[in-house]
Amino acid sequence: MFILAIDSSCDDTAAAVLEGDRSVLANVISSQFDVHARFGGIVPELASRRHIEAIWPVVNEALHKAGIPLERIDMIAATQGPGLVGSLLVGFTFAKGLALVRNIPCVGVDHMAGHLLAAFLETPAPAFPYVALVVSGGNTSLYEVTDYTTFRPLGHTRDDAAGEAFDKVAKLLNLGYPGGPAISRTATRGRPDSISFPRAWLDKDSLDFSFSGLKTAVLNHVNRCRQKNEPPAVADICASFQEAVVEVLVEKTIKAAVGCGRRTVVLGGGVASNPRLRETMKKRCRELQLRLLVPAPVYCTDNAAMIGLAGYHQYQLGRTVIPDADVYSRFQVM
Ligand code: KG4
Repeated sequence: MFILAIDSSCDDTAAAVLEGDRSVLANVISSQFDVHARFGGIVPELASRRHIEAIWPVVNEALHKAGIPLERIDMIAATQGPGLVGSLLVGFTFAKGLALVRNIPCVGVDHMAGHLLAAFLETPAPAFPYVALVVSGGNTSLYEVTDYTTFRPLGHTRDDAAGEAFDKVAKLLNLGYPGGPAISRTATRGRPDSISFPRAWLDKDSLDFSFSGLKTAVLNHVNRCRQKNEPPAVADICASFQEAVVEVLVEKTIKAAVGCGRRTVVLGGGVASNPRLRETMKKRCRELQLRLLVPAPVYCTDNAAMIGLAGYHQYQLGRTVIPDADVYSRFQVM
């Protein structure tokens, strides 16, 4: 079965062609960094407009790279939510229209399901059940994954997502957008223990996250430096901020895995490409003899291959959408 998959949940227009659920024949991503960089964050209106321009060329490129003409596509999978409504509408409506014209099924996929299953695009693939941390610009969530369509939420952020905190702190330090890669690069020149930023552990057994206090602590630190006419030590701030984020992400994930009695931990989302997070998670998992699987960066950030994989399994359960199905902006209980 050949699948055309589309993701337009945020600021990347992505299309992929898969054969079944594992074999990715093409995976094309058109990023919008150039559109949003000067604003230091995503402008939803501009994102939707760029998706409209990009969607057909990106889908065409994926089909061309895969060497599979549209006539041979058996099913279309597209992200239905959560995300920016204007962005989602472009990809999802495009997918439904194409499926209608071609008289093939269309499946609406939850973006989180894609991230939670992305590790299956790699070898070795995980075995169920496992605990997964999805950490990106819009999400910071822990799930227990028991099969391809069953995801139990364990905890999520109560305010900013970790990636959002990276982006906001980078903006504050004039490091550009997206902030995550800029902060992790700058952090390599700083000392992670130089500034003691707060860690939000929340209630004793909570697996929820909170990053807005940490972001404010960085702002206060920078303001104090400016009041004293001292230039802020940017590399040390980046390293210390990153350490505070990483420590909480790692310890809560380990707590979730141990608490659920699971031996496998999977990471997903754009922040999962952070080298310090990968290294620290690896060390902690090794200490506790847990198996850690982290997809390659291209499958950590938003991509359509993971949507095709998740869509394939939805389709096996007969979950297709009707032409007037709508997108959704917020998390659904999966
Ligand atoms: O999953 P993703 O591509 O899409 C959205 O959530 O939109 O994640 C993007 C997020 C951004 O906030 C970006 O700053 C962050 O992932 N990110 C990183 C790194 N690379 C990307 N954060 C920390 N360290 C990185 N190396």
